[in-house]
Amino acid sequence: MSPGKTSILVTGGAGYIGSHTVLALKRVGYDVVILDNLVYGHRDLVEKVLQVELVVGDTGDRPLLDNLFKTHNIAAVMHFSAYAYVGESVTDPAKYYRNNVLGTLTLLEAMLAASIDKFVFSSTCATYGVPKIIPITEDHPQDPINPYGASKLMVERILSDFSVAYGFKSVRFRYFNAAGADPNGQLGEDHNPETHLIPLVLFTALGKRESISIFGTDYPTSDGTCIRDYIHVSDLADAHILGLEYLLKGGDSEVFNLGNGNGFSVKEVIETASVVTGRDIKILECDRRPGDPPVLIGSSDKARKILGWHPQYSSLKEIVAHSWQWHQHRHQ
Ligand SMILES: NC(=O)c1ccc[n+]([C@@H]2O[C@H](COP(=O)([O-])OP(=O)(O)OC[C@H]3O[C@@H](n4cnc5c(N)ncnc54)[C@H](O)[C@@H]3O)[C@@H](O)[C@H]2O)c1
Repeated sequence: MSPGKTSILVTGGAGYIGSHTVLALKRVGYDVVILDNLVYGHRDLVEKVLQVELVVGDTGDRPLLDNLFKTHNIAAVMHFSAYAYVGESVTDPAKYYRNNVLGTLTLLEAMLAASIDKFVFSSTCATYGVPKIIPITEDHPQDPINPYGASKLMVERILSDFSVAYGFKSVRFRYFNAAGADPNGQLGEDHNPETHLIPLVLFTALGKRESISIFGTDYPTSDGTCIRDYIHVSDLADAHILGLEYLLKGGDSEVFNLGNGNGFSVKEVIETASVVTGRDIKILECDRRPGDPPVLIGSSDKARKILGWHPQYSSLKEIVAHSWQWHQHRHQ
């Protein structure tokens, strides 16, 4: 970093959504520093593709944060780092509250001490719980049904209180299902373990899995399988740039859904993957899982109106095709 020049700190920038956002930040000319403990992040992608400074450390490490803010001229923080396995959050909630809530509070206190007051936060549609109305808008009641969603809601509450008390400005983005990969094939999703539908379907196409399970085929939907809202990760990254610039221009704290606005059923995803890959994908029909609502679709009208966000890759075919390009390259 050149002296005096400001940078954006991206926590979790070695992970899936964070890395795509770092790429987008670089494309529009921002200096970026990543803080990632590499528990789930990928050093190789930071070094080979992103080529920005990587600080390996934890958001819960206050001395490290104080030093980072002293040695870098940080204008704003984008906070992606968290644990995000819903099932694990039910069996080990302490792990989730410690990392997602305490780790974030430590980061926020270090920012206050360093007089940095702009924050973009990765929240989730899991804060809404079981939807009462579809599509879900930002004023839908928040009643999470698992500790992961609760941990994100707690941070949202902390951010509202910080905004009132300290004039600390934040944009909270509630994502629906992040999916797809960088259209140029440089980056993509590489979670281990992987729990998301599209990569699991593509692993089946690649022969890395025997079959793909469908949990419930008797839901009140057109083909009986659950419907979800898949938003392309590069569109998410673009929204983050708009959210950051909204704050840098003096915008007040705000919350926005980020989704496709269209839902796709599990069967549609599998059929699309068969077409895109040209391969047969073996299906295993299983019973419903507890806690899966039949339909989850978000309205992103507010982000379109206030931030001027225009998602580029809304078709399921494009989302799956970009993922396929990435997984073939990553797992060859
Ligand atoms: N993937 C989705 O569909 C989705 C949907 C809604 C919300 N989100 C949220 O978006 C964010 C990013 O999700 P993702 O899919 O890119 O996850 P990811 O696991 O790929 O990335 C998270 C990164 O944060 C790092 N990390 C975790 N805890 C850390 C800590 N204490 N200190 C430093 N680094 C730490 C991990 O090593 C990883 O690189 C998360 O906050 C997640 O809850 C994701």
